[in-house]
Amino acid sequence: MDISIKQICCIGAGYVGGPTMSVMSLKCPDILINVVDVNKERIDAWNSRDLSKLPIYEPGLQEIIVKTRNKNLFFSTKIKESIENADMVFISVNTPTKTKGLGAGKASDLKWVEKSAREVARYSKGHTIVIEKSTLPVRTAEVIQKILHSAERDSTKESRSFKVLSNPEFLAEGTAINDLLNPDRVLIGGNNEEAMISLSQIYKNWVPEDKILFTNIWSSELAKLTSNAFLAQRISSINSISSICEVTGADIGEVSRSIGKDSRIGSKFLDSGPGFGGSCFKKDILNLVYLAEYFGLKEVAKFWESVIEMNNWHQKRITEIVVKKLFGTISNKKIVVLGFAFKANTNDTRESAAITICKNLINEGADLVIYDPKVSSSQIEADLQIKPENEIEKDDFDLKEKLGKWRFSKNLDNFDDAYAVLILTEWEEFKNINWMAVSKKMVPPAWVFDSRSIVNSHKVKEAGINLWRLGDGTQNQENSF
Ligand code: NAD
Ligand code: UGA
Repeated sequence: MDISIKQICCIGAGYVGGPTMSVMSLKCPDILINVVDVNKERIDAWNSRDLSKLPIYEPGLQEIIVKTRNKNLFFSTKIKESIENADMVFISVNTPTKTKGLGAGKASDLKWVEKSAREVARYSKGHTIVIEKSTLPVRTAEVIQKILHSAERDSTKESRSFKVLSNPEFLAEGTAINDLLNPDRVLIGGNNEEAMISLSQIYKNWVPEDKILFTNIWSSELAKLTSNAFLAQRISSINSISSICEVTGADIGEVSRSIGKDSRIGSKFLDSGPGFGGSCFKKDILNLVYLAEYFGLKEVAKFWESVIEMNNWHQKRITEIVVKKLFGTISNKKIVVLGFAFKANTNDTRESAAITICKNLINEGADLVIYDPKVSSSQIEADLQIKPENEIEKDDFDLKEKLGKWRFSKNLDNFDDAYAVLILTEWEEFKNINWMAVSKKMVPPAWVFDSRSIVNSHKVKEAGINLWRLGDGTQNQENSF
């Protein structure tokens, strides 16, 4: 059997499908790659001439798109045609937590994966290698295999065959292109050596051989969930310690630096922040919890669930601190929120800590002005599920009476009459704010709440502004045993 791949179809043009296939098209100019999606608006955005309108903001992505789009990389809604012509199909669709039915709130909703598998079963021709790129619960490959197997036996069609592999994606948003170009590892799980070699040959075009790992398919699926669970666990761990720092006079930056020097612990992923966000950590841990519960491993389930509980508590804690420092009430007080994305260098807001924190502040009556360099007003509205102040109708008494409010700021210059500035995303531009100029506009005693430890504390203090920095107990004069 010829194992060289000439055409690839990727189902799903999202945060994974788009960047992953862009890098693959760059490194494999002889392979034709079709990225397909049911969402026409998203596909149109991928095909936009104006590169600032691509549906995803990722440093380095535009440069690749310029080189490969409409050469060997095509974005379209032509699902049938692209599957028909593909030797290899990547399933890269969304797998959110189920909201209804069995396992609701924990298990992944696999309806989009199943639909993709059925489409492959329906349209593919000849031999097709099907690859799970989405993050999936352990043993999902079995479901895909069953669907494809029934297609193999369909006597009304020409003979077809399929092999299923797991090839989870480890990119992080904001650094996706670099992560894809220089991955720590590429994991290929399967039980068919020929198909595994075929996929590894693609990656070998740019990934050193010793970084390409072969495992069985279930280990590969579980390794992806475990990886995310371990990373999230580190953040909950460091955030829990930040609260101890604040009451003891220790500084979380110094603690992180000290423990990170232990090569067994390592220095990465030890930044205390407003709590982890993103579309995957919570969903993947919940998935692991569901798996453990399903197999009766109650203690295991409880252990991983506590990582999420700590994250929820931590986000609530930040709101409480803001209220407390502003004399117990933030009703009608203008607070400038800097950053809404779940981390810097992305326009993604899924599960961003900013959503919970802003909702809580609005419920306390605050008058929020929200600025993020890459997140739009409509996205913030969709996340908060509250209209911005300028869109609230005069007779919308409920909204006007009960809650605080929010509005969008297009620029980083809306500090007039603000009582506080709250930094929630670590965008580079927030590091260089002219606090002296800002302080003249704010209402004294003004506050900066820095949940990402990015501001220059001397400059804030020199400007006569009070500073609260997450995990910094050295600022807190009230602390003594
Ligand atoms: P996404 O929501 O951005 O993109 C998924 C896309 O799939 C959507 O555009 C949707 O319209 C499309 N889609 C769904 N069903 C389809 C179908 N039947 N046919 C064609 N298109 C269809 O999701 P994402 O962030 O790209 O994540 C995809 C998967 O990758 C998830 O399982 C996620 O857990 C995993 N993952 C995500 C990241 C990340 O950083 N976002 C990183 C690693 C892994
Ligand atoms: C994460 C993993 O890092 C990727 O390997 C994985 O592929 C991806 O999930 C996925 O499966 O979706 P991502 O969520 O894009 O990537 O971004 P991270 O850099 O992991 O950040 C997640 C959250 O943790 C962010 O809110 C970030 O601000 C927070 N974080 C991260 C901290 O609070 N402190 C840190 O030290 C690191």
